[in-house]
Amino acid sequence: MAGKKILLIIGGGIAAFKSLDLIRRLRERGHSVTPVLTNAATEFVTPLSVSALAGEKVYQDLFDLNDEAEMGHIELSRAADLVVVAPATADLMAKMAAGLANDLASTLLMATDKRVLIAPSMNVRMWEHAATQRNLKILLEDGILICGPNEGDMACGEFGFGRMAEPLEIVGAVETAVNDGPLKGRHILVTSGPTHEPIDPVRYIANRSSGAQGTSIARALLSLGAQVTFVTGPADKAAPMGVDLVEVQTADQMLEAVNSALPADAAIFAAAVADWRVANAADQKIKKDGNGLPVLEFAENPDILASVCAGKQKPKLVVGFAAETQNVIENATAKRKRKGCDWIVANDVSPSTGIMGGSENDVTLISEDGAENWPRMGKDQVAQRLAEKIAEALG
Ligand code: CTP
Repeated sequence: MAGKKILLIIGGGIAAFKSLDLIRRLRERGHSVTPVLTNAATEFVTPLSVSALAGEKVYQDLFDLNDEAEMGHIELSRAADLVVVAPATADLMAKMAAGLANDLASTLLMATDKRVLIAPSMNVRMWEHAATQRNLKILLEDGILICGPNEGDMACGEFGFGRMAEPLEIVGAVETAVNDGPLKGRHILVTSGPTHEPIDPVRYIANRSSGAQGTSIARALLSLGAQVTFVTGPADKAAPMGVDLVEVQTADQMLEAVNSALPADAAIFAAAVADWRVANAADQKIKKDGNGLPVLEFAENPDILASVCAGKQKPKLVVGFAAETQNVIENATAKRKRKGCDWIVANDVSPSTGIMGGSENDVTLISEDGAENWPRMGKDQVAQRLAEKIAEALG
């Protein structure tokens, strides 16, 4: 990868010492680092050591006239390919979420037109605090990329989530964010995970999808430089970093989220959408009141894939999945025609295959040109191969 320009904002936390290593690692890989220190950061690392490692001037003060003459804060915020905040303290996250701009770091974060990646670092209680979690949610909605935090022992003697990600993990996230692979400039929509269809406020109907395949597809598309909107039901797998994340519960909500994410260059429908919802879902918890067993009535859910294929905003390439337990190729070939998509990734989800919820997949890619059987491989490899094929098809 060609060297990128990273604007690194170092916040005032004990993990600031790891940012010195981060600077070295980024430079080793050919990237340049322009460092910015908050006032609190100078309590943990000195401007001299930061500038020596970065080989560049350290920026600290919003009202430093020299800096404004050399490079104003607006220009500083735009000259980079990516803005990285490491460590991102609870205070910095709160400022970002609220849109405050009362020092150089927060002003740069408001003024930038580039993507921002934060590596949070704080005590576990501070991380779990409702205010931080609220701020995190806002930042994710704003499209801020997050790396970490990790779980482990903390400098304060406690244990839990809040340790800043390791420098090499942050380098990985930086490179994913600035990647200009063959899908650069392409917007790709991915649905993933199961849906939960409520029976009453505490019970729901679900399926065994873990979201593993959809998550790996999103990650593989990101690694080829795509902008990915990831619409997911409640999955076991955490959504990959760097996607535009939309979390939903039900098929109806997934349809709405998909429609608002369009237009897209391609769409991959990996979600295991419930075919039916409970039409008579109760507003209150259903009680054992001696009046016999509850009777659930079902209504059919919208077919999200079919409706996108039939719609005006159908992406250039639409890929569906076919989860079958018998006559896989025959059923999947018919499904491709019925739903109107370009490709179908067919797989046998019979319990004996261990595919649903497992880490491997055995797929057949069905297109207009026929069926192409892929050898059994990890879901990550299936995803990588599929992403490369998508890049080829989009040209
Ligand atoms: N799909 C969808 N919306 C639904 C049902 C399915 O978008 N309500 C999508 C899935 O994400 C997948 C494809 O359609 O890409 C096929 O899903 P599958 O469960 O195999 O097919 P069904 O339509 O549910 O057909 P059947 O249950 O009859 O096999």
